[in-house]
Amino acid sequence: MYQPLQTIHSILAYIVVFIVLIAVLNAIAGTVTKRPFLPKDKKLALYALIAVHIQFLVGIITYVISPLALKNIQNSGMGTVMKDSLSRLYAIEHPLMMLIGVILITIGYSSHKNKELPGKKFKTLMIYYLIGFILILSRIPWAQWFS
Ligand code: HEM
Repeated sequence: MYQPLQTIHSILAYIVVFIVLIAVLNAIAGTVTKRPFLPKDKKLALYALIAVHIQFLVGIITYVISPLALKNIQNSGMGTVMKDSLSRLYAIEHPLMMLIGVILITIGYSSHKNKELPGKKFKTLMIYYLIGFILILSRIPWAQWFS
């Protein structure tokens, strides 16, 4: 169960990074060019939202069964985990930062729908998705992911 889930979480991460990047670039381009907000723009933002939500759910299950996360805290104690940077990344920083990133993207998606003007829609998506994306990128275990 652990190995397949870790693989799924790892593969989904490529999809998340790719689609959120495209959604951010699209929102920036829409803001800069002041073009109309089309159904395809909403769809792209929605696909990015769905991708991060699915990844979030898979992440929670991974967190429970991985030896690097909850089990590490239970076995080694919070003090030991906090002292080691890699343990801290997996058990605390990564999940927490991903949670904040997913919340920001969710707020961005739901509040862009309340805006009337196309420029405001693009700008809302741009700000929330960009900050969420930066937070997500900031706490991905890059070295382990690509090894
Ligand atoms: C947008 C959200 C997320 C992204 C892009 C993401 C990305 C990643 C990546 C790239 C890895 C490294 C995979 C590898 O070494 O092959 C990883 C590992 C991990 N993630 Fe996430 N993650 C996300 C959300 C979460 C959440 C919300 C949790 C927990 C609540 C979580 C828990 C974990 C755990 C425990 C590992 C270590 C798994 C292991 O190797 O045993 N992730 N994540």
